[in-house]
Amino acid sequence: MGHVHRKRRRSKPQLREAGRLSRMTSAYLAAEGFDGQLLEELRRRAIAPLATRGRLLICDGPAVPSAWAAYIWYDCLELPVASIGTAAKVLRDIQRNWAMYAPLHHRRAALIQERLPHVSAKPIVFPAVAPTAPLGSWTLLAPDRLLAAAHCSAPFPNGEVAFIEDREGPPNRAYLKLWEALVRLGRWPQAGERCLDLGASPGGWTYVLAKLGAVVVAID
Ligand SMILES: C[S@@+](CC[C@H](N)C(=O)[O-])C[C@H]1O[C@@H](n2cnc3c(N)ncnc32)[C@H](O)[C@@H]1O
Repeated sequence: MGHVHRKRRRSKPQLREAGRLSRMTSAYLAAEGFDGQLLEELRRRAIAPLATRGRLLICDGPAVPSAWAAYIWYDCLELPVASIGTAAKVLRDIQRNWAMYAPLHHRRAALIQERLPHVSAKPIVFPAVAPTAPLGSWTLLAPDRLLAAAHCSAPFPNGEVAFIEDREGPPNRAYLKLWEALVRLGRWPQAGERCLDLGASPGGWTYVLAKLGAVVVAID
């Protein structure tokens, strides 16, 4: 995706020393329409959100694995930002690549993101290796308060993998699930490898495997 990683100029510990971090927090971004399930999952682990911004649940303490989170922001920093320019500079000083999540203060957030290096969000042509450069996430908690995480659970903006779709070949849209799983895993069957597709009908996954050149036994 053409991300270029520039060496961090200021480390997170330095930011902490500068008194910018109020406490360690993690943030969980629910998949669209699954906020309730994520909230319930966290509640069962005795985790209550400190704050919510759109689908993003901001919680105390280190992140726990979550089945309902589409994306997890680790070790978030809460940063006072007096201006749009300051916000962009603070983020650039941490690392190059940032993805915005802006359910609130959208116009101001967009102006900040415009001042950050461009991060390509071009849809992927399957199969493709996921980007390797670190991608952080940020949101505006308030017009003058930023929440940022340099390290997130996937190298895709807001955890979403976008593909150039194949609207001609596959018999259904299930192929997209397998594409996503394989890109996230960073491995897919090679030509000549043998695959067993159990419960294969109508054949979306079998289509993907066969297209990769695998020898597929499909059973339904
Ligand atoms: C959601 S569909 C699978 C879609 C498929 N992965 C694709 O990519 O198109 C689930 C399939 O599993 C099959 N199935 C469910 N239980 C099964 C079993 N015990 N043995 C074999 N097939 C089964 C069903 O007949 C159904 O066709």
